[in-house]
Amino acid sequence: MRAVWITRAGGTEVLAVRESPGPQPAPGEVRIAVRAAGLNFAEVMARQGLYPDAPEPPCVVGYEVAGVVDTLGAGVTGVEVGQRVQALVRFGGHAEAVCAPVERVVPMPDDLTFTDGAALPVNYLTAYHMLFRVANLRPGARVVVHMAAGGVGIAVLQLCRTVPGVVTFGTASAAKHEVLREEGCTHPIDYRTEDYVARIRELTGGEGADLVLDPLGGRDWRRGLRLLRPVGQLVAYGFANLSTGERRSLRRMASQLARVPLLTPYGLMDRNHTVSGVNLGHLWNRADLLREELEAVLELWRAGAVRPRVDAVFPFEEAAAAHRRIGERRNVGKVVLVP
Ligand SMILES: NC(=O)c1ccc[n+]([C@@H]2O[C@H](COP(=O)([O-])OP(=O)(O)OC[C@H]3O[C@@H](n4cnc5c(N)ncnc54)[C@H](OP(=O)(O)O)[C@@H]3O)[C@@H](O)[C@H]2O)c1
Repeated sequence: MRAVWITRAGGTEVLAVRESPGPQPAPGEVRIAVRAAGLNFAEVMARQGLYPDAPEPPCVVGYEVAGVVDTLGAGVTGVEVGQRVQALVRFGGHAEAVCAPVERVVPMPDDLTFTDGAALPVNYLTAYHMLFRVANLRPGARVVVHMAAGGVGIAVLQLCRTVPGVVTFGTASAAKHEVLREEGCTHPIDYRTEDYVARIRELTGGEGADLVLDPLGGRDWRRGLRLLRPVGQLVAYGFANLSTGERRSLRRMASQLARVPLLTPYGLMDRNHTVSGVNLGHLWNRADLLREELEAVLELWRAGAVRPRVDAVFPFEEAAAAHRRIGERRNVGKVVLVP
C-alpha cells in the first residue's frame, strides 16, 4: 500500500510516498480503499511539528477519507464490501487503505463524488458543531469568520446562509473576496491591509459582533473578545498563528502564547460573554454525536444547502505541492489528495 509519510518535522521536503503492508481491520472495523482524502490545516501543522495531537514521525496523518469498503473485520454489520463510504479516521487517511471503526463510517449518497465526500467531514462537522451545538446560531446574528476562504470558513458561510438574516464578516486575502461574496459573506475584510476590529466596529455602528469563530489564536483571541457585544460568544478552535512559513519558529510561538488572554468566570459574568472551545479530534470518543452531526450535514447536502468547494486535487506524489498551497495561503476551499 502507498501512503504519504511525514518522515520528520520540517518543510515539505520531509514528505515521501512510501510502500508498506496494508492494514487489516480489527474486530468492529472496516477497511476502506481510499479514493480521496482531505488535507487539513492541522496536517500541515503536523508536518511542521506544531500539532501536538499528531503521532510522532515517521507517521501517516489524514483525518478523513472517502472510498469503498474492501474488507470487514469480525462482527461488523450494517456495512457491505463494495459500499461507497466516507469516514473520520484518527490518522492514517493519506494512504491507499485505512481501517476505521464501523460507527465512524457513513454511507455516501450515490451522487456525492469521492472528492466532495472527502471534503465534507472535517470542515462541515467543525462548522456545524460550532454554529449549531456550541453557539445556537440565531436569526440576525452577526458572525465573524476568520480564514473565511479556507475549508472550514466556506462551510461556516454556507451554513450561516441557512439561518435568516445572519450577517457575516469574513477575513481573507483580497483576491478571495469575490468567492466569499459568492458563498454569501456579507462583509469580506482583507486582514492584510485593514484592521479587522476597527472595520467591524465601523460596520456595526460601534456595537460589535454576537459570535466570533477564531482559529487564529494568540493575540486574535484577545481582539475577538474585544469585539463581542453583551451576550456575545467567542469560539476558539485553532491556533494558526503558530504557523507561518514552512518551519516552526520558537520565537513566534513564544510571542503568540504570551498573548493568549487570561479569563476569569467573574470577568465573563460581568461582561455577559461566553468563551467556548472546540476540538473535533478530542471528540473521537463521542461517535454518537459526530455521526448525528455528519448525518445532519448530509441532509443539508441533499437539500442543496451546502456544497464543498474543492480548491485543488493533488495525487499523493504531489503532496508537497498540496501542503504548500495551504501554507502559502493560496487555497480557496478544500485541498484534496488522491492515491
Ligand atoms: N478545532 C477543530 O476541531 C478544527 C477542525 C478543523 C479546522 N480547525 C482549524 O481551523 C482553521 C482552518 O482550517 P482549514 O483546514 O479550513 O484551513 P485551510 O482551508 O487550510 O485555510 C488556509 C487559509 O487560511 C488562511 N490563513 C490564515 N492564517 C494562516 C496561516 N498562519 N498560515 C496559512 N494560512 C493562513 C489563508 O488564507 P487567507 O490568508 O486568504 O485568509 C489560507 O489560504 C485552522 O486553524 C485549523 O487548525 C480546527
